[in-house]
Amino acid sequence: MKLCVALDKPTLKENLELAQELKTFDIWLKVGFRSYIRDGKQIIQELKTINPNFKIFLDLKLYDIPNTMADASFEIAKLDIDMFNLHASSGKIAMSGVMDRLKEVKNPPIVLAVTALTSFDDKNFQYIYEKKIEQKALQFAKDAYESGINGVVCSAYESKSIKATTDSSFLTLTPGIRPFKEDAGDQKRVADIEFAQKELVDFIVVGRPIYKANDPKEIVEKILSRLSR
Ligand code: C5P
Repeated sequence: MKLCVALDKPTLKENLELAQELKTFDIWLKVGFRSYIRDGKQIIQELKTINPNFKIFLDLKLYDIPNTMADASFEIAKLDIDMFNLHASSGKIAMSGVMDRLKEVKNPPIVLAVTALTSFDDKNFQYIYEKKIEQKALQFAKDAYESGINGVVCSAYESKSIKATTDSSFLTLTPGIRPFKEDAGDQKRVADIEFAQKELVDFIVVGRPIYKANDPKEIVEKILSRLSR
């Protein structure tokens, strides 16, 4: 299981300082909406300058018509990133269109599909999707798998059943991880490291418990030592 640290600090400078502090670790870094909208390609270039071995997950959660999604994915693949994501609810035509377009690229990035955001509880999820989270997340995962997508973003609670209905090599990445019982914030379906390991999760995403800590490096060290047990 790999650790992916969400670089959700308010400024480019602070995100780069955090990356600098964590540069000796074998970790992934997640660049989200806020940073990418503000800092664009610069943040990616600067992160790779800090440590060329940092793996970068560009968390833009694409959702649009198939043609626009394929075009956007083609542009994303030209950036120096290692993984990006889209919404599974954009549908199988959009997802397979993206994977077809990426065949034109040498060394394409990993593509993940978002199933259900970990900030949803069942009531708010059902209001939109009219199904229980578990049931719908599984359906989204199957759609993504059948469209040639490499894995899904889901909660730790769905990881094992998603792998059981798709394939053990179908990747799962789970946000909402609270390694040491930290505050959940807006996340509803949170889990700790041991639970994620039991659920065969491939990547855990941790944001606030790391970047809001007094000593982020110490927390990352503690997480990595749990992961290597
Ligand atoms: O601070 P926290 O650990 O809750 O951060 C989780 C990160 O993962 C945030 O950057 C959030 O945007 C992202 N994320 C999520 N749920 C998803 C996909 C991404 O929380 N389904």
